[in-house]
Amino acid sequence: MNWLKNAWYVAGFKEELDDSKVVARRFLGTAVVMMRHSDGRVAALRDMCPHRLMPLSAGRRVGDELECGYHGLRFDVGGACTLAPGQANIPRQACVQHYPLAERHGLLWIWMGKAERADPDLIPDIRWNDHPEWTPSRGYHHVAADFRLSVDNLMDLGHESWVHLRTIGQAEEECIPSYPVKVSIEGEGLVRAHREMPNIEAPPFFAMVLDHHGRINRWQTAIGLAPSICMTDFGVYPVGSSADEAYRSHVLHLLTPETESSTHYFWSVARNRRLGDEKLTQDICKAIAQTFDEDAVVLAIQQKQIEAEGGPVPRLALRVDEAPIRSRRLLESLIKQENEDPDFVYRPALMVEDVTPELEMG
Ligand code: FES
Ligand SMILES: [Fe+2]
Repeated sequence: MNWLKNAWYVAGFKEELDDSKVVARRFLGTAVVMMRHSDGRVAALRDMCPHRLMPLSAGRRVGDELECGYHGLRFDVGGACTLAPGQANIPRQACVQHYPLAERHGLLWIWMGKAERADPDLIPDIRWNDHPEWTPSRGYHHVAADFRLSVDNLMDLGHESWVHLRTIGQAEEECIPSYPVKVSIEGEGLVRAHREMPNIEAPPFFAMVLDHHGRINRWQTAIGLAPSICMTDFGVYPVGSSADEAYRSHVLHLLTPETESSTHYFWSVARNRRLGDEKLTQDICKAIAQTFDEDAVVLAIQQKQIEAEGGPVPRLALRVDEAPIRSRRLLESLIKQENEDPDFVYRPALMVEDVTPELEMG
């Protein structure tokens, strides 16, 4: 599989490494083990003993080192072997690859490419997951599909009217694809697709967060930042009120390829209203988990179809495909540049400023 290697990928939520926990996860096809050291730093190593390939995560943590559970080789934070039981000399090959791991915005970020290129300034600014003016509801889905299918799905919000009728979708008479979408490319690696839906019936999820049953104005902007971060910015407000008063969310979809056919999907739904309402935070978690379960089912079926029938997707292009197709082309072009030019550095747009879009609807 051709992945963009020299980029930061979300490896987890930062709390996952609290309490001396060791977390094992596969990224871009490679097994990795992560831990936080006693001095607070986080570290990631290849999760494979160089002796007989045992996952180090299946052994035990001894202080700030990992001990293989088969013959007891021990490795430090940098992957160097510190102990080979039964012998004084440590073989030169007894070392484990380490990967740059950083913490930012309440998240862990891993760099699976060339370590010397891992500049933390290239981490996109998605501050809403960890910001005093926004309250997040967070979760994780394991998706049994290629991450690019998830990106397609998130850049094409037209599917809501069929996949998410019970949660966020409009019924067919006001279905999302019937509202025009404006697609633009802004900055390195960033595609934006904006759609406005004035005076529509509030789908169940929006009636809940607004605490309002009746007609609403709604906008949704799907943002895709290569290789695999998407954000849905949506705003809803009752017809007759002002967009400045909108209930607004930044839904962060943090997708990291696990294998060619599976994806880690970390999500964080940050809202700008009712910040201290813990019940609402939990209710959003439940509703969003249900919504993304609905996507995960479709994506897993689609992956199976591709494996059985062969690619490429889509076989035919609809109007709703413009943003997904442009996102895929952009990613392909970045991967091509990375593969052909050893000096190529991808500097992703540092996400978006936090402003309400210029709305055409009232
Ligand atoms: S497999 Fe790890 S020490 Fe033997
Ligand atoms: Fe969806």
